[in-house]
Amino acid sequence: MIGSLFSLAKPALHALDAETAHQLTIRALSLMPVSAPPADDARLSVNVLDRHFPNPVGLAAGFDKQCEVPDQLLGLGFGFVELGGVVPKPQEGNPRPRVFRLARDEAVINRFGLNSDGLDAARLRLVNRRGRPGIVGVNIGANKDSADRIADYVLCIERLCGLADFLTINVSSPNTPGLRDLQGEAFLDDLLARSIEARDKADHGRRKTIILLKIAPDISLDALDAMVTTVLRRGVDGLTVSNTTVARPDSLQEKELAAEAGGLSGKPLFVPSTRLLAETFLRVERQIPLIGVGGIDSAEAAWTKIRAGASLVQLYSAMVYKGPGLIGDIKRGLVQTLEAEKTSLTQAIGRDVVAIARGRF
Ligand code: FNR
Repeated sequence: MIGSLFSLAKPALHALDAETAHQLTIRALSLMPVSAPPADDARLSVNVLDRHFPNPVGLAAGFDKQCEVPDQLLGLGFGFVELGGVVPKPQEGNPRPRVFRLARDEAVINRFGLNSDGLDAARLRLVNRRGRPGIVGVNIGANKDSADRIADYVLCIERLCGLADFLTINVSSPNTPGLRDLQGEAFLDDLLARSIEARDKADHGRRKTIILLKIAPDISLDALDAMVTTVLRRGVDGLTVSNTTVARPDSLQEKELAAEAGGLSGKPLFVPSTRLLAETFLRVERQIPLIGVGGIDSAEAAWTKIRAGASLVQLYSAMVYKGPGLIGDIKRGLVQTLEAEKTSLTQAIGRDVVAIARGRF
């Protein structure tokens, strides 16, 4: 139903600039009644991070930046949704236009720069949905003009603990100058130590809020080695691999748009982000779960992420091109694959990690 509505609306939406189309989509979702998501096939359920996910297909950060429509998004059939990125103080982000559709590449470039209504507004929206079912996380970042970036993450954690199932520390957005420097060893150690400490204090005596770290696809394998060591030492609960890339593969057809500054997502991100996922899985050795994100546009792509080591997956850009019907398509396709291969999601996680790390998908 919602899939056919999207097919009807797509030409009109794609005739608008990408940000206006997105604003309209959020507005339309906000007008939708909140309905219970369709029941999922039991074979799709995943028990991980101390939570029960009805299916492993999540919505990635950046779609509902202002935390306006989490329940409507869950109603579309996602197994979980990640809201945000949220930063402490309201900030406008970069001037428009700041998001571009590379249609022939089924890709997106964005340089939003963490435009945010701010932490108080996000918090209030989460307070208003307290007690509702569904797994909801929030992606958190630092203000562009912040004098103490680590303090920004700590503040977000202090204020959002208990209102979200998970908080994702975003040190990998390419659109806030200097943010990715926080992925460096010394900074990261301090950031994670203080984040986990803030979480433990805020959650004292309550069910733990999960802390995830989201990484960029552009890091070197040496940097990944160091990062994984720090993440495991500091007790981060899981890793999200990956954010958008600053690289511009030669294969891109929309040459003019490809020259726009920002992070590239969608189909061209699939191979590099999946190889990095596999490399991360090899280093993490199943000590913590991974969320695979980047270029998922089909059940086959989601299945490859799982075989590369993802316990859960997320997507965003493919929704722009294929609409919400894609969620059901992916879930049905995964069930068919599990049946055909006589296996389970748990058994499939990381099954082909070595081949995929070497680029053999
Ligand atoms: C994003 N993404 C993102 N990530 C993040 O950690 N915080 C954010 O605020 C945003 N914002 C954002 C805006 C837009 C317009 C896009 C397209 C993406 C990155 C996103 O969560 C995801 O990691 C990448 O887009 C890769 O997944 P897809 O889009 O290839 O499925």
